[in-house]
Amino acid sequence: MHFRASLSVAILALAPLAALSQGAPKSAHKLHQKRASPQVAQTPPMGWNSWNYFHRNLTEQDIRSAADEIVASGMRDAGYIYVNIDDTWEGERDANGVLHANSKFPDMKALADYVHSKGLKLGIYSSPGPKTCAGYAGSLDHEGQDAQLYASWGVDYLKYDLCSFRQDMQQQAPDDKAAQMRLMQAAYLKMDQALRATGRPIVYSLCQYGWDAVWEWGPKVGANLWRTTGDIQANWQSIYSLLNEQAGLARYAGPGHWNDPDMLEVGNGRLTLAENRSHFSMWAMLAAPLLAGNDLPNMKPEIKAILLNRDVIAIDQDQLGREATRAYSEGEVDVWTRHLAGGAMAIAVLNAGNERYSSHPFHLTLARLGLHGAQKGKDLWTGKEIALTQNMPIELGTHDILLVRIAKPR
Ligand code: GLA
Repeated sequence: MHFRASLSVAILALAPLAALSQGAPKSAHKLHQKRASPQVAQTPPMGWNSWNYFHRNLTEQDIRSAADEIVASGMRDAGYIYVNIDDTWEGERDANGVLHANSKFPDMKALADYVHSKGLKLGIYSSPGPKTCAGYAGSLDHEGQDAQLYASWGVDYLKYDLCSFRQDMQQQAPDDKAAQMRLMQAAYLKMDQALRATGRPIVYSLCQYGWDAVWEWGPKVGANLWRTTGDIQANWQSIYSLLNEQAGLARYAGPGHWNDPDMLEVGNGRLTLAENRSHFSMWAMLAAPLLAGNDLPNMKPEIKAILLNRDVIAIDQDQLGREATRAYSEGEVDVWTRHLAGGAMAIAVLNAGNERYSSHPFHLTLARLGLHGAQKGKDLWTGKEIALTQNMPIELGTHDILLVRIAKPR
């Protein structure tokens, strides 16, 4: 409710920008009605995206195989619904300006039908600029046409990546950051309006790498989520630095509008099991979209077990939609807490150091988490009950995590 109200106020505030856009519905009321019914992304979107594993080497068959595996692995039933095609699907525009997919995607409508027939949803990718980041056709000056095209295929999710629009902004308003910002917001709002005008519920995901405090204005341009960082990589250093960039952003997230610290690398690169576990746990704590990005047909059982941990998924998808905050750090240990529906709480203790704790014992101070005395909870990686006591020594391997859910914190 709060979001709906703030969205329409925000749209009114952006009215001069809206006037620039083609095909804008006549009233702000109409605008928010269209998007609101039915509402999307009430919990962080879950699914799979092609980029982190395939990068540019993607074909339609890879998307079909991913969809097959999402079902066969049990991921769909655990909530992974969106199958998102990232960059490199785009072909050329015809004489009428209609974009066609390239030869690697011979029939987008048939692909969407296939994905839908599996009980999944389809996502796609574009840019407000003339070119995408990989140099394919972007949506500049074709926003309405592209949105209609996506809707005609049955697309349910759009990732809209700034890419070459940045150069456009700089050329149009050299040395004027404020004017560049207005151009960027207008470009994102324009696609939002084009999506609304289709009447199809489409999740709208902004990707501009977390520049210009996008969390402050993302909801005003209709975004359901916005990247808060540069591109993730499948190594601990990248994951840990993106995690730390999230401190302070919790208050911007909530049902319908989420911070996006980028897609999952679980199962990619040379991440250790502990690193995969910690990455997944922390993205769940952050109420981040859980978009797997690994090679699903060749997924190892231990990676599948991580992605399918229902208790951890439940933290991410908690109805309250409140993102975790960092309670404190001591040495190389970080402690994050997240408030959950029904008064429950999740606590994550992360060993970011390169040694086991046993050589540097870490003692958890419950009082620093607002807790009074010993607590009982569930260790979400062992599945066992755990008692947390005051100043309790905790031993964890390097880059490993203790993730505990406390149903009734005291
Ligand atoms: C940017 C985005 C990535 C990916 C690529 C595709 O780098 O941040 O997530 O979409 O573009 O070209």
